[in-house]
Amino acid sequence: MAYVLGIDLGTSSLKGTLVDNDGKVRAIASSEYALSHPKAGYSEQEPKAWIKACSEVLGQLKQQVADFTVGLAGISFSGQMHSLVLLDENFEVLRPAILWNDVRTTEQCEVITQTYGSELQQITGNIALEGFTLPKILWVKEHEPQIWKQTRHILLPKDYLRWWLTGNLAMDLSDAAGTLLLDLKHKQWSEAVLEHFEIPKNLVPPLVRSSEATGKLREAVKQEFGFENDVMTFAGGADNACAALGAGILKHDVGMVSIGTSGVFLRAQPKFVDHQGKLHFFAHAVDDHYYSMGVTLAAGHSLNWFRDTFAPDKSFAELLANVGKIAVGAEGLLFTPYLVGERTPYFDSQIRGSFIGIDARHTLDHFARAVLEGITFSLKDSQALLDPEHELQRLVSVGGGAKNAVWLQMQADIFNMPVTTLEVEQGPGLGAAMLAATGSGWYADLDECVDNFVAYGDTIMPIPENVDKYQRIYEVYRKIYPQTRALCGEI
Ligand code: XUL
Repeated sequence: MAYVLGIDLGTSSLKGTLVDNDGKVRAIASSEYALSHPKAGYSEQEPKAWIKACSEVLGQLKQQVADFTVGLAGISFSGQMHSLVLLDENFEVLRPAILWNDVRTTEQCEVITQTYGSELQQITGNIALEGFTLPKILWVKEHEPQIWKQTRHILLPKDYLRWWLTGNLAMDLSDAAGTLLLDLKHKQWSEAVLEHFEIPKNLVPPLVRSSEATGKLREAVKQEFGFENDVMTFAGGADNACAALGAGILKHDVGMVSIGTSGVFLRAQPKFVDHQGKLHFFAHAVDDHYYSMGVTLAAGHSLNWFRDTFAPDKSFAELLANVGKIAVGAEGLLFTPYLVGERTPYFDSQIRGSFIGIDARHTLDHFARAVLEGITFSLKDSQALLDPEHELQRLVSVGGGAKNAVWLQMQADIFNMPVTTLEVEQGPGLGAAMLAATGSGWYADLDECVDNFVAYGDTIMPIPENVDKYQRIYEVYRKIYPQTRALCGEI
């Protein structure tokens, strides 16, 4: 049997999804790693931990699938976006990676916006936000000049892994778009941006399309894992682009809601759209396509935080067991999920979350429901920006939000749209495997690959009565941000 492997290098773990040439998932393996927060707002990770996790995943797959080392034809990647990896001339890691959810760069963002904001937005399609790579580079230049002096290569996480696996440097357009260094319309590194911020062009890797080959596994890797044939790697894409691909989102009339650590509301776009910085706009992993998205920084993170803080002895299933018994709107309890600041619709790293309307009759179940509703309202804010004309016909829900029946109905009701699940959800790793399959020539194009790899499950319809109730509660939710902003600043 022939296989392709999608490697998803996430924020908390690396997951390998092995798919056979019938489009069936044959095995899954994963390995976790730590995040460190050396100061408030900092979020870092050791790149070596990704390599260790990748080795473990390859080892596990070898154990699970007898002909893995004979049948593996191709590998591709999906990666956490924006996170900065710096290497010296010997390809040694110079400092821990500064991750996408690190918000130390507010000052750099202000400088970028004041001195170059409109040019940057026109060239890259985006504005400077703490999460993106360019402000992180400027932070290192300013605060760690000795590290910057030694920097010879700027990479993103999955591209560092590719380098380790193949010895080749490359970055695909979908991930490059999240660096703020890409000329998005012309699909090349922007000389203007690089020059303006004095970043030598030879620090950034060659750009490739997502399903383009990026070289075979190195001999040493091939031997370590006992691969009998050459294994080709393919560029891969940003995790959100790969998640969209894995959910079959190639066309612009279907949206995707994804709830992981962060939450994303996304739609594919067939051509360049100027969102004037209100939404993120990146290259898709599908050639010549784009996608627009809004991000809730703490989506799954809010639920994790809530459980860890208030119900550490309960599993998620236990915590959410009774939320379906609580009425729509959690009987007057509202939550805003701004635990680590927010991206969409408020670019605000200082805002913090709230529970509003706490009443003596509220129980843990009310709070749990309010957390789910607050996360979903925050994503509705993105929906309003992404789909003002109500062109989207349907949403595909993936991630944590798709695993709970009450939350799925809540999404259909709050977004007022049919919500479809995937029959077997594999996350961004499946999108990466699809890039490897298409790159390997198994399919003529990604459309054909979607037909073979993606199967949809149930569709949940909105309940009109709930839609009306949520519409009214959402109007109140919208007022919380402007009214708590100054308070959060004072605290
Ligand atoms: C997108 C973003 C996150 C990360 C998570 O802009 O920062 O969704 O990609 O890995």
